[in-house]
Amino acid sequence: MTIEKSEKLVKNLPVVKLRCRKDGPLVVELPQGIDGTPAVAIQITDHHHEPFTVPTHKSALALCRCGESSNRPFCDGSHKLCAFQANETAH
Ligand code: FES
Repeated sequence: MTIEKSEKLVKNLPVVKLRCRKDGPLVVELPQGIDGTPAVAIQITDHHHEPFTVPTHKSALALCRCGESSNRPFCDGSHKLCAFQANETAH
């Protein structure tokens, strides 16, 4: 396969965006299909590869980075209460 052909294939793939919110969660933005549902499937597992239940109707998922969420691995807003400060910044 040529590089041009390979790049064309990549351009046609749905794009999943990962966005670090400043002092907050890692947001996974899922591409939407024509019917408004996510165009890709996503699986999130723990360190034993056990899957978490992932909401299938959302266009974005927020993953906790502060470690204080009571709904891990998902953010529940607790980062605001613990004044979480991430080393990484979002631009
Ligand atoms: S980043 Fe939001 S609860 Fe941890």
